[in-house]
Amino acid sequence: MEVDISKIEPGQLIRVKWRGRPVWVLRRTEQSLKDLASLDSQLRDPQSKESVQPQAAQNAARSIKPEYFVALGLCTHLGCVPTFRPEVAPEDLGSAWKGGFFCPCHGSRFDLAGRVYQGVPAPTNLDIPPYRYLSDTRIIIG
Ligand code: FES
Repeated sequence: MEVDISKIEPGQLIRVKWRGRPVWVLRRTEQSLKDLASLDSQLRDPQSKESVQPQAAQNAARSIKPEYFVALGLCTHLGCVPTFRPEVAPEDLGSAWKGGFFCPCHGSRFDLAGRVYQGVPAPTNLDIPPYRYLSDTRIIIG
């Protein structure tokens, strides 16, 4: 399915359905991209070796273009839909949390590349579906 990404603002996430499943497209800010590298020691699979992504997204940002993050919006534990939590809440101050995705079912946390934190039930990073760019402003998922 085709998705127009031209109107996504920095920091904004849009949700689409692909084969009945939720897919997110997040336009990451420069700061959030910089923060990714600092999180590696807190994560279960920082290099995404045990996780699912297409070859073109097998990199530090887990995306074809670093700015746009495309992911399946289903927790890799038991399939709940995580919430988008880009902000650092007061209770997160002093922790490694720099914003990301939070699964309300059993508390798994993921960073803004969908990489799972240590010590939570989700076994792997969020899956990245196959996708490619048709132009600078359009992608096709699937
Ligand atoms: Fe997400 Fe269990 S389904 S933590």
